[in-house]
Amino acid sequence: MKVNKNYAALEKSYLFSEIAGKVREFSAKYPDRKVYKMGIGDVTLPLVPAVTQAMLSAAEEQGNAKTFHGYGPEQGYAFLRDAISSYYRSFGVSVDSDEIFVSDGAKSDLGNILDLFDADNTVLIPDPVYPVYVDTNRMAGRKIIFADALESNGFLPMPDERQEADIIYICSPNNPTGAAYDRPQLANWVQYANKRGAVILYDAAYESFIGDPSLPRSIYEIEGAKECAIEFCSFSKTAGFTGTRCGYTVVPFALKREAMSLHDMWLRRQSTKFNGVSYVVQKGAAAAFSAEGLRQIAENISVYRENARLICATLDRLKIWYTGGQNSPYVWMKCPDRRDSFTFFDFLLQETGVVGTPGSGFGKNGEGFFRLTAFSDRDTVSAAMAEFQRLFA
Ligand code: MLT
Repeated sequence: MKVNKNYAALEKSYLFSEIAGKVREFSAKYPDRKVYKMGIGDVTLPLVPAVTQAMLSAAEEQGNAKTFHGYGPEQGYAFLRDAISSYYRSFGVSVDSDEIFVSDGAKSDLGNILDLFDADNTVLIPDPVYPVYVDTNRMAGRKIIFADALESNGFLPMPDERQEADIIYICSPNNPTGAAYDRPQLANWVQYANKRGAVILYDAAYESFIGDPSLPRSIYEIEGAKECAIEFCSFSKTAGFTGTRCGYTVVPFALKREAMSLHDMWLRRQSTKFNGVSYVVQKGAAAAFSAEGLRQIAENISVYRENARLICATLDRLKIWYTGGQNSPYVWMKCPDRRDSFTFFDFLLQETGVVGTPGSGFGKNGEGFFRLTAFSDRDTVSAAMAEFQRLFA
């Protein structure tokens, strides 16, 4: 018996588990100190009424022999895939319902999609970025190269013809930096991928935070993207489903490599290894994209946007450099006094009880930066910003 030795190449624990551990230690040591959690990007507002009502009546259906549902269709119920397809149409993108696969969230699909690709491929990952891309490829022993996301390029690296990538990760609006590609920039990536025969894995989990209409909400707004890109999205940040779990992945019919359809391969993979998302949750997700649901989730998103505005206003006042917070729930700030990210994390927690995420946890280029999330509740954000004002003024 041999274990997968690639696990030995991983950091000891997943970034957000490590942060949670540090916070637990702090609270155990100082039980009377208040902690303001602005670390992991977890939503705090409850599910909207349209969603909970739909889930309640779906639960009733499941308790009645006449309306009970067993295993659902492999790609997800048509009522949900149609709702997702019309959501895409609302911002001008045409995605066929049959190109959509319903899942339990973007994180699982982003990892699982790697089943479709040979271990020999070279993977291009921006640095800094959501740690799941690096960890899942390390687990599979793939060669990883990095695209530097730096202050000098607005944290939006562009393709470099000298980099020979087969699989390319793009997250826009970006986690952690909040930077978002515009259409010409994304068109460059699509061109590069099509020229090389590479595949783009496009993480659109934060698209609902884009307020600027000049920015794309989906890679399929770009011509040629259906020939090279798979898009991952989720109800987590859009509709508060982090604890309810539902996401969707679009694998276009047009995406073919080595005479194989990636759509058919993904269907084969999912129908073999995944039994779908519960009927009750899919009903709730579809309700989030109903007219009433969309109105209600927009209200929640505007609360988080206002949180981001409050964070940015405080940093402006304190003259602390930051980016993000505009078309993104994340604010990416420079650690004051040139502290490194983890030293600043400890200092801030100790002095104020505010928890953020050290930038270096997202990659080496994140060193010296710190991420704050706007998903916390308003009282936490206000109290945390008052602490910032007290400490840094
Ligand atoms: C984050 O804080 O980066 C996110 O919550 C991670 C996730 O969505 O899994």
